[in-house]
Amino acid sequence: MNVFKNIVIVGSTGAIGSAFIQLMRETHSEAMIHCIARSNPNPSGGNITNYTLDLYDEELLEKTAQSISESAPIDLVLVATGILHEDGMMPEKSLKEITADKLIKLFTVNSVIPILCAKHFTPYMNKESSIFAALTARVGSISDNKLGGWYSYRASKSALNMLIKTCAIEIQRTLKNTPIIAIHPGTVSSKLSEPFNQHLDPSHVFDPQTSAQHVWDIIRKTQPSDTGKVFAWDGSEINP
Ligand SMILES: NC(=O)c1ccc[n+]([C@@H]2O[C@H](COP(=O)([O-])OP(=O)(O)OC[C@H]3O[C@@H](n4cnc5c(N)ncnc54)[C@H](OP(=O)(O)O)[C@@H]3O)[C@@H](O)[C@H]2O)c1
Repeated sequence: MNVFKNIVIVGSTGAIGSAFIQLMRETHSEAMIHCIARSNPNPSGGNITNYTLDLYDEELLEKTAQSISESAPIDLVLVATGILHEDGMMPEKSLKEITADKLIKLFTVNSVIPILCAKHFTPYMNKESSIFAALTARVGSISDNKLGGWYSYRASKSALNMLIKTCAIEIQRTLKNTPIIAIHPGTVSSKLSEPFNQHLDPSHVFDPQTSAQHVWDIIRKTQPSDTGKVFAWDGSEINP
């Protein structure tokens, strides 16, 4: 069974990222918890260390990964960054609304950040047993796309799923006990989902704490043979 003593959460300021940190604080009081975000309002203290960094700065990512692993190899990396809308830039309802800027922005956040984290953190992960997980979205599934729309978000999450799968194949050769997975956290109340949740039945929207618990349940049950998979919040597998 995995022992989680050295934990990294990227996107620690987000609704799900911060709820996951809180859950780790409550359940893993002995663990070192490293929280990474582009801006960190909270000071470090106790078993929590905060890092503020530009997540596209590979030199900084590398230095941070190295420094986090100095006292112990990393047991868990959860990447909880992501974007759906920003500054009036909303998901596309039709082809006419696509812009290069929107596509590039969503790919750089949703696809590039998680795979850069995989590149720089996996070399420092625990060879005995560890796990790398990134939050994706069910709408990134090509076979599940029945409604259309949301071009940039869907495509950036499909790309993320492919990057995770490709990384899993490579990492399996050297880190046999480190599954690389993607997790759909469900529909969760957060800044990201806020404009779209109003028409939903509230019973279908998780609070961040419930979602963090689901994410944790998947992480702790994941086996090395699961590497490359995309899981939904309830543990079911999502087809690419
Ligand atoms: N909420 C949902 O219903 C839902 C559903 C399916 C999938 N997901 C996925 O779950 C993940 C977390 O979502 P959430 O609901 O917790 O969203 P959230 O509360 O909006 O948090 C998003 C996180 O991403 C970070 N981020 C955004 N743009 C960034 C950038 N350019 N550089 C660095 N960090 C950036 C934010 O940092 P700042 O705090 O600095 O902005 C924040 O830490 C995302 O990948 C999302 O796609 C969410």
